[in-house]
Amino acid sequence: MNSKRRVLTGITTSGTPHLGNYVGAIRPAIAASRDAGVESFYFLADYHALVKCDDPARVQRSTLEIAASWLACGLDPEKVYFYRQSDIPEIPELTWLLTCVTAKGLLNRAHAYKAANDANRAIGEDADAGINAGLYMYPVLMAADILIFNANQVPVGRDQIQHIEMARDIGQRFNHIYGGEYFALPEAAIEENVATLPGLDGRKMSKSYNNTIPLWLPEQDLRKALLGIVTDSLTPGEPKNPDDSNIFAIYQAFASADETAAMRRAFADGIGWGDAKQKLFERINAELAPLREKYEALIAKPGEIEDALLAGASKARALSRPLITRLRAVAGLRSLRDAPATATATKARAEKPALQPVVFRDADAFAFKVLDAKKTVLVTQGGFTDPKAAMAAAREAMENMTSVGRPV
Ligand code: TRP
Repeated sequence: MNSKRRVLTGITTSGTPHLGNYVGAIRPAIAASRDAGVESFYFLADYHALVKCDDPARVQRSTLEIAASWLACGLDPEKVYFYRQSDIPEIPELTWLLTCVTAKGLLNRAHAYKAANDANRAIGEDADAGINAGLYMYPVLMAADILIFNANQVPVGRDQIQHIEMARDIGQRFNHIYGGEYFALPEAAIEENVATLPGLDGRKMSKSYNNTIPLWLPEQDLRKALLGIVTDSLTPGEPKNPDDSNIFAIYQAFASADETAAMRRAFADGIGWGDAKQKLFERINAELAPLREKYEALIAKPGEIEDALLAGASKARALSRPLITRLRAVAGLRSLRDAPATATATKARAEKPALQPVVFRDADAFAFKVLDAKKTVLVTQGGFTDPKAAMAAAREAMENMTSVGRPV
């Protein structure tokens, strides 16, 4: 049985990664992916990007930059699932199955949609003016991202908590309607001790505030950008309060405990802002310079990144394909040759999934199929050199078809 916790998160491909993304998402996620008790899923949410970005060049460029950033920062695609959402056709397929069990009222209550409505009303427009249906459906697509891989934990920022709750609701609803435990119910994992970086103007560094420092600026541009962070007007020699300083907050996100303590003393001793910013630059650059070199090398070979993403998708689809096969069958999208349906034998509500693996010879190789209680073939796959390998694959496929027994 697979007892590893599944941790999954998506990154929307509509922008250029900045220092806040690095400290708040990329760096902690890569550290977490090294935990042996965890199976990590990181993906580029390019379908989600289309909701707010209709510039194709930008979506493609952002996909390249974000993928290269994760790889440069040490994500090991052999150890994790690293893929592009639009390479997993089971995601939009599941989106429709979920759409049909999702209450429209649930989507009416989504924060992002309501905020767009409110903004329209505030200027006397029709509530839905300029709002595409993608924004409205966003939570269902996101639920499909999460549920298709039976993720247990989803590390996200606070603004995304409602989306995870909706994914739970939607997954639970599907489980209930079709009477089985098809989906694990995900939980939001909010990292309390991960820093949120202040941006150039002191507010949280965020694309929507236009106050970001791009992650991969060339060294001298990085220095210039850091010099532009707002400070108060205290002069060199005057003691400064580190706990009230953007410079210190950013420094702390990169420095060791000892370095941070030394900087604290320097603030008390009245270090000038110019010197503090220079030290900040040196510390950040020390961490980023070797990664920047890797990033530049990666980005120069988009074909290799493409190959890594395609390999990641094929690995991920080994999980998503059997699940969608099962879900289609469960909803009645199935071959007319299988399990003849009668007018009375309708829904198998609350039926416990009783799956049966069968290994058989297939031309010059071995194959398996997985049957449900009614002998419906849920999945079949060939090309195994020996029956043992076929049986192992069958068991793995069964494992991925159900969340029963998986710790949530
Ligand atoms: N909505 C997320 C964001 O804007 C991105 C995202 C898409 C996501 N699908 C996901 C995050 C699934 C976690 C899980 O940050």
